[in-house]
Amino acid sequence: MSSFQKQVPRCRVSDSELTTVLDLGLHPLGNGFIAPSDTRDEFFYPLSVGFSEESKLVQLVDQPSPEQMFHSEYPFFSGTSVGMRQHFKQFAYSILSSKFLSENPLIVEIGCNDGILLSHFASRNLRHIGIEPADNVAALAREQGVNVLKDFFCEDTAEVILSSHGSADVIMAANVLCHIARLNDVIRGFKRLLKPNGVVVFEDPYLGDVVRKTSYDQIYDEHVFLFSAHSVVYAFGLADLQLIDVAPQPTHGGSMRYVLSHKGSYEPSDSVPRLLEEESRLGIDQLETFIRFQTKIEESKQALRSELEELKKRGKSVAGYGATSKSTTILNYCEITTDLLPYICDTTPIKHGKLSPGRHIPIKPHQEFQRNHPDVALLFAWNHFEEIQSKESKYLSNGGRFLTHVPFVRYLPQFGPEK
Ligand code: SAH
Ligand code: TYD
Repeated sequence: MSSFQKQVPRCRVSDSELTTVLDLGLHPLGNGFIAPSDTRDEFFYPLSVGFSEESKLVQLVDQPSPEQMFHSEYPFFSGTSVGMRQHFKQFAYSILSSKFLSENPLIVEIGCNDGILLSHFASRNLRHIGIEPADNVAALAREQGVNVLKDFFCEDTAEVILSSHGSADVIMAANVLCHIARLNDVIRGFKRLLKPNGVVVFEDPYLGDVVRKTSYDQIYDEHVFLFSAHSVVYAFGLADLQLIDVAPQPTHGGSMRYVLSHKGSYEPSDSVPRLLEEESRLGIDQLETFIRFQTKIEESKQALRSELEELKKRGKSVAGYGATSKSTTILNYCEITTDLLPYICDTTPIKHGKLSPGRHIPIKPHQEFQRNHPDVALLFAWNHFEEIQSKESKYLSNGGRFLTHVPFVRYLPQFGPEK
């Protein structure tokens, strides 16, 4: 074999061969909103997706380093959306009212961000600790009375927590396990940290929804994994942790909550085999599904581009709605620049005055959208549409329309006035 031959990528969990199934080209960091003066040194990496027949894990072939993505200017704040605040309040109540908490429980959360979930435990004076590497969001969590350990969670962190606090009744993680390439290390940490009757409860964007909705914008640097029940059973099974319950969630455009325990501690609910069967029917445990997915996303790209070109030809004004990390994938994959989309409005102050990663579309405050309603709003925060629809009732009643690519390129609301 020539020493110049490219190495076959390996599955991060099973170390088996990874077959590349999607290639989206060069991309910047999903949350890499950039000052106009800094664009010359912008970082790009090849965004491609692999599938392991062994673990059934859908994963990025290359991922930038954790420090490049999660740092003291991390621009994602969990509490920006009312819907997410409600969701995490319910999440907290479901744990607080569960059978899993002992008399003086310890609750651990990985990736606690601004404290949106853990604050419900802190306010009840329950023993808790959040692990969060991004300084700026960790500071907000501390302001809510949350105890935060500034770090990237791994097996070593589990040992630190064990010696300072003892073992955990519940380990929670939302939209973060899918970010961590060293998943085996994290799971070993869970195994060490969890009480004999303790549970891990985590949720992440669900692969089944991504495939059903062609929501390929869930593919970006931070999402190194897109989980399914199949891959979760495999990955946690390596550490003798078993999947005992699953529950679909509406967040992030379709997520799944997974509950895991030490093997044999609890009887798994019927929901687990039911979901496994459903996944096999959908084909998300099979390579061919993801090869077909490439064609679907190419069609989505063509449809979105031609609609934007048509709007331009007809002299319609267009603005992006929500400078989400998902938008970075759409803008770069669909090669959308300011000639088709002059600006994106967003409610996050740290993003204002910056440019979108890669395609350099200006990010403006939401007030800009309110002052000057565009004919069409390209909906990047489509997962928050219910909330946005009620907030923008004036825009809609004045004839404004939202353009989305999910599950195919179309206008919302569908019965609205002439665009
Ligand atoms: N749980 C919140 C935040 C999700 S964003 C929510 O669901 O809205 C992911 C968060 O995880 C970021 O704040 C990021 O800094 C943090 N994170 C990334 N890698 C991590 C790791 N290895 N350990 C702990 N937190 C991590
Ligand atoms: P989200 O889908 O959580 O982002 P991501 O794809 O990065 O996970 O959306 C959060 C972003 O959307 C954040 O930048 C704020 C913005 N946003 C608005 O601008 N207006 C809104 O009404 C909502 C709900 C979000």
